[in-house]
Amino acid sequence: MRDSDQNRIISAVLKEEDLDGEVNLRPRKLSEYIGQNKVKETIEIFIRAALQRGEPLDHVLLFGPPGLGKTTLANIISNEMGVNIRTTSGPAIERPGDLASILTGLQHGDVLFIDEVHRLSRTVEEVLYPAMEDFALDIVIGKGPGARSIRIELPRFTLIGATTRAGLMTSPLRDRFGVISRLDYYRVEDLLTIAARAASILQVGIEPDGAEEIARRSRGTPRIANRLLKRVRDFAQVRAQGIITREVASTALEFLEVDPLGLDQLDRRLLTAIIKNFGGGPVGLETIAASISEEAGTIEDVCEPFLLQLGMLARTPRGRVATAAAYQHLGIEMPGEKQPTLW
Ligand SMILES: Nc1ncnc2c1ncn2[C@@H]1O[C@H](COP(=O)(O)OP(=O)(O)OP(=O)(O)O)[C@@H](O)[C@H]1O
Ligand SMILES: [Mg+2]
Repeated sequence: MRDSDQNRIISAVLKEEDLDGEVNLRPRKLSEYIGQNKVKETIEIFIRAALQRGEPLDHVLLFGPPGLGKTTLANIISNEMGVNIRTTSGPAIERPGDLASILTGLQHGDVLFIDEVHRLSRTVEEVLYPAMEDFALDIVIGKGPGARSIRIELPRFTLIGATTRAGLMTSPLRDRFGVISRLDYYRVEDLLTIAARAASILQVGIEPDGAEEIARRSRGTPRIANRLLKRVRDFAQVRAQGIITREVASTALEFLEVDPLGLDQLDRRLLTAIIKNFGGGPVGLETIAASISEEAGTIEDVCEPFLLQLGMLARTPRGRVATAAAYQHLGIEMPGEKQPTLW
């Protein structure tokens, strides 16, 4: 494989946030990783045990909605294990040869991080199975009756897979991970700590009430807490002597159209469309997506898990339904709802 190809595959997951400095907000050690106590504890035990035995860590699968800290955790694991991490993503590994080249370039104990691991193609997955299980690559040489297969030994490595859609993974792949950890939305207290920590790194003055206001509107997601903090910081700088108080935070977030429960414009457009255009549902995902000109994938990955958790949306076999909580939050009267009578 050419070097440029290798770079393309390896850097395919560098996202915007890594370029605009959010990388500095990424915790580097497990002790700096806030919240997700269960996951943290599990991983800590596995790391300690592996270190004590002097062995590489077993393969780890991390799943959960976007922005909850999967990539961060993968980096922390490699850091705590004291090994190198190579990062790539499912769609970037187009051919089995791409994967073979990455695998043969690893050193003993290295972490290979594959983001969006559910998007690996079947042919690539098949190369990955023996690599994960037996640390070997089976390569077929030649074609037709003369073809033969040779086995190449690989260094023992740790695969860390991340996915927002564990349900889309094939079970043979899922079963080959020794540790499977699910990240959940963060509690407000944890997001408050995350926002306060980020503020201190960014050297922004913030009051605890201000951090709490940001935390409550961050839809359980550290990435959003950090993003809102940066926007509120701009607001505080221009309009309020640089200190983020509760009032500054709530005014700024109203201005950014992030409501007190953390719903943004897209969430509200989605719920409003289901209610106004489709009588509250049930309506299919593709139909709603088309009606608000948004990608079905974005709705499914980003909006739905959060709205489901808030109980504003329900998934039924016939499609999505807006619940009473959604009507109430948007201040829309539910059909069939009795008006209070005065006598
Ligand atoms: N537990 C945490 N403590 C502090 N900050 C965190 C934590 N988890 C995530 N963050 C912050 O949130 C940002 C987003 O996290 P990360 O990129 O790891 O999410 P992700 O789960 O990989 O998202 P995606 O599914 O979109 O790839 C990080 O840059 C980091 O600053
Ligand atoms: Mg990530």
